[in-house]
Amino acid sequence: MRPIRFATASLAAAALTLPLVAGVATADPSAGREAAPHSNARFDRLREAAPEGFFVGTAVAGGGHHLEQDYPDPFTSDKEYRKILGRQFSSVSPENQMKWEFIHPERDRYDFAAADGIVEFAEKHGQVVRGHTLLWHSQNPAWLEKGGFSKEELRAILREHITTVVGRYAGRIQQWDVANEIFDGEGELRTQDNIWIRELGPGIVADVFRWVHEADPEAKLFFNDYGVESVNAKSDAYYALTRELLRQGVPVHGFSVQAHLSTRYGFPGDLETNLRRFDALGLETAVTELDVRMDLPENGVPTQAQERKQADYYQRALSACLAVDGCNSFTIWGFTDKYSWVPVFFEGEGSATVMTDDFDRKPAFYALRDTLKGARG
Ligand code: XIL
Repeated sequence: MRPIRFATASLAAAALTLPLVAGVATADPSAGREAAPHSNARFDRLREAAPEGFFVGTAVAGGGHHLEQDYPDPFTSDKEYRKILGRQFSSVSPENQMKWEFIHPERDRYDFAAADGIVEFAEKHGQVVRGHTLLWHSQNPAWLEKGGFSKEELRAILREHITTVVGRYAGRIQQWDVANEIFDGEGELRTQDNIWIRELGPGIVADVFRWVHEADPEAKLFFNDYGVESVNAKSDAYYALTRELLRQGVPVHGFSVQAHLSTRYGFPGDLETNLRRFDALGLETAVTELDVRMDLPENGVPTQAQERKQADYYQRALSACLAVDGCNSFTIWGFTDKYSWVPVFFEGEGSATVMTDDFDRKPAFYALRDTLKGARG
């Protein structure tokens, strides 16, 4: 079993614990795929529709499960994909390409090619980049997880990785997901499956934030996790930890919710309330991996009602972020079903992004665009 499967199992488990909140009808029922195309309208593009200083992002596909799919790496070879990526978004997140197993495949070898490609693409298109990720229990290379290193060696390996990777992109990354998914669903630190916390103790978390800050003083440094959209045991654990780290003067700048949502579990209706309490600590907040998966009918095509419900989730997640002062970065985890991780990781679920396999816009796309436009005032 590859390490990535662990993330999935726990992700599904966390979703089960989300409180059920009934979905409400979409704000704009006319915003369907069958609606008139708006392509020439002013602010047609998400990035143009967004209020000043508000970044609309997407994950850039490649690596990860894509290696096991029969389609080519979209980032380098899918022209339509690249065109939409450049036009619609003002922020990009490497979906896999900066994770340890991709960027640091052997102890003495880094592979920056894919990550460099994304950062260069972003600069060419006037986009910012969210770095993802440095301290995580998943998608670590076997040489690291099974290397039998001493504590001193591990500490040195981690520090060197940070100096090298963060240093390479210093000044070019807007936000780093420094620590990813360090708590489990009960709000307990992952002291077993996270190699760093297990071997080096919880204090490593603060050290990592310090090291990243040294390597790139401009980047905003985030805690990022799933299942923390609501006020619950896990987000409470982040609240307590970030408050304590801030008190100690550790350079923590943000708290972000991944928001891998499913129409099975209802929308986390207290998302805005939750973001606000982190905002009140003086932290930035962000939505970093939004997608909204659903149980697909037998023919694999969502009904109009399903698409409207999905649009409503997208719209509510965006509205919650827009309503919070320090929430200025809103990222969807891929914009087309063609390359979505969802069908690979959640059996029977799919259609989680805002565009079909053929890049047709779903109601969710229009819901995002119109909500952004509305927020311009
Ligand atoms: C997922 C990617 O989308 C897949 O391509 C990969 O195979 C596994 O990881 N939380 C995270 C992301 O922080 O890095 C995960 O991305 C999804 C869950």
